[in-house]
Amino acid sequence: MKVVKWGIIGPGSIASSFATALASMEHTEITAVASRSIDRAKEFAERFHVKKAYGSYEELVNDPEIDVVYIGTPHSEHKAHAALCISNKKSVLCEKPITINQEDAKYLINLAREHRVFLMEAMWTKFLPVTKTVKQWLNDKVIGEIKYMNISFGFQNAFDAKSRLFNPDLAGGALLDVGIYPISYAIHLMGKLPDQVVGSAYLGKSNVDEMNVISFVYNEGVMASLSSAISTNTGCYAVIIGDKGRIEVPEFYGADTAMRYDEQGTLVERFHHKHPSNGYVYEAEEVNRCIREGKMESDIIPLRDTLDIMKIMDDLRSSWGLQYPQENNRK
Ligand SMILES: NC(=O)c1ccc[n+]([C@@H]2O[C@H](COP(=O)([O-])OP(=O)(O)OC[C@H]3O[C@@H](n4cnc5c(N)ncnc54)[C@H](OP(=O)(O)O)[C@@H]3O)[C@@H](O)[C@H]2O)c1
Repeated sequence: MKVVKWGIIGPGSIASSFATALASMEHTEITAVASRSIDRAKEFAERFHVKKAYGSYEELVNDPEIDVVYIGTPHSEHKAHAALCISNKKSVLCEKPITINQEDAKYLINLAREHRVFLMEAMWTKFLPVTKTVKQWLNDKVIGEIKYMNISFGFQNAFDAKSRLFNPDLAGGALLDVGIYPISYAIHLMGKLPDQVVGSAYLGKSNVDEMNVISFVYNEGVMASLSSAISTNTGCYAVIIGDKGRIEVPEFYGADTAMRYDEQGTLVERFHHKHPSNGYVYEAEEVNRCIREGKMESDIIPLRDTLDIMKIMDDLRSSWGLQYPQENNRK
């Protein structure tokens, strides 16, 4: 089987988790890592036994050995870093959100098609065995018809105007950082986009949304209440209510367990799947498969879905009066 050779750009917090996954996989090699600082690249390379360390992203994308690049930089940088890779004929797995808005996502998708390379947003939750099981339970109508979903992802962080969570220059805010998970999850479980979306947000001192609450309405009589926060621990959970029971998924974004209950509230089934090294293995396996098969996009996260979700987030931000500095400069 072809060994898929990965490059990593932006060796920060999530890149370490992703590298842990790659390092545990067969027929997979972390060939190079690039940082804006050669010392950080070398330190990361040593930690994960990576052959090559580069002190610039440009050097990595010019390495002919690399098949696919994982981008783990802040939101504001995804467009430029993904474009750098794609223009150099490298396939890309880009951290979520793929870009800060739909217009930039369209630009990357067109560029990837032009250069005939693979592109995927790293919405890893969709690949988890628990997510697949929950989807199967819903398809099998084990809780009857879905009526309501309550999905939240919020954690408490002390305000720091410079951190990527609060800094508008780095496209901070709860929606793009964590709100994308409840939105993507609800749409995935329903299998379609909502008919109505409304939301409200609290914009804090740095003028990014520190908390938000979003409602989805589906015309057939299904509602979802979604929330996210970077300044408050709202928890991380998904509860899906049907007319014949309910499903609960604690820590849904990286879940290894889900429970289903009957109409009386009695636990009927508990599904547990221990992650191999961590939960990022499954998305990496999908990318490996797509690269080996010469695909340009994943069937599980088609680029159309990525665009649709970016549009929902654009509309919500617009209704909150939240534009990022890069977007203002365009006008
Ligand atoms: N899938 C998940 O579960 C998950 C979890 C957390 C975060 N994320 C996503 O992963 C991305 C990175 O998040 P993170 O928490 O890993 O961030 P982080 O720890 O701050 O790391 C980001 C890295 O990007 C590089 N970088 C390039 N340009 C930068 C700039 N202008 N400012 C700051 N850093 C810059 C830095 O590496 P060098 O300077 O060394 O090159 C830095 O180490 C975001 O898109 C986030 O939404 C995903």
